[in-house]
Amino acid sequence: MSLYKQPDYWSVKAKKEHYPARSVYKLQEMDEKFGLSSPNAARKSETVKILDLGAVPGSWSLYALRRLGKRAFILGVDISPLSPDYDRGLFEGDHYCFLQGDMTAGEIKQAIVAQGPFHLVMSDAAPGTTGNSGVDTFCSLTLAEAALEYADRTLLRGGNFVVKVFQGRDSSGLLKDIRERFKTGKSFKPQACRRTSFETYYLGLDKLG
Ligand SMILES: C[S@@+](CC[C@H](N)C(=O)[O-])C[C@H]1O[C@@H](n2cnc3c(N)ncnc32)[C@H](O)[C@@H]1O
Repeated sequence: MSLYKQPDYWSVKAKKEHYPARSVYKLQEMDEKFGLSSPNAARKSETVKILDLGAVPGSWSLYALRRLGKRAFILGVDISPLSPDYDRGLFEGDHYCFLQGDMTAGEIKQAIVAQGPFHLVMSDAAPGTTGNSGVDTFCSLTLAEAALEYADRTLLRGGNFVVKVFQGRDSSGLLKDIRERFKTGKSFKPQACRRTSFETYYLGLDKLG
């Protein structure tokens, strides 16, 4: 059995707590540490509008739906279809909308922008890996840059941003771009990231006007 196929602490916990993927604990840790889902842009009684890019199989969306309850409105986007089976009540309710398509494609961009503005833009989107780290980091950076473009176009002032990136030669430029747009920009690797993985997350907190 390969290292990735062995059920680890986070996978077992996800199964027990009815989440489709262990990645939920990466978001949970960042949310608890940095208050991602309570952006300065949203007043206490207001609906918190979230754009979840690369949403399938749905753990990040489900976390936000469970955490915010009726205060949430989430637009999930993925190139693959979403199976709502994990929590039909939440995924098929009024607080969730799913758009299937390539987040870098023109017509999907238009459809997403039309649903904005958002208080939180989060992207866990990742390319299928090839094993060639140069190719994989390039594809990951392309997705991360597209996510930042959504933050530019749809995120409210005071809103928060989080994006997954495979670390490589050019990824530090992205962090610099984030720092120019947000009060705080930082890199953070949650505990639930696999030790062998070269993924990390860049955060932008409190979007500047
Ligand atoms: C690591 S998974 C996301 C896991 C998700 N956050 C969760 O917690 O369930 C990465 C996702 O990015 C999606 N993805 C990759 N390229 C994409 C693209 N160009 N447009 C939209 N989604 C994409 C994949 O289909 C995959 O579902």
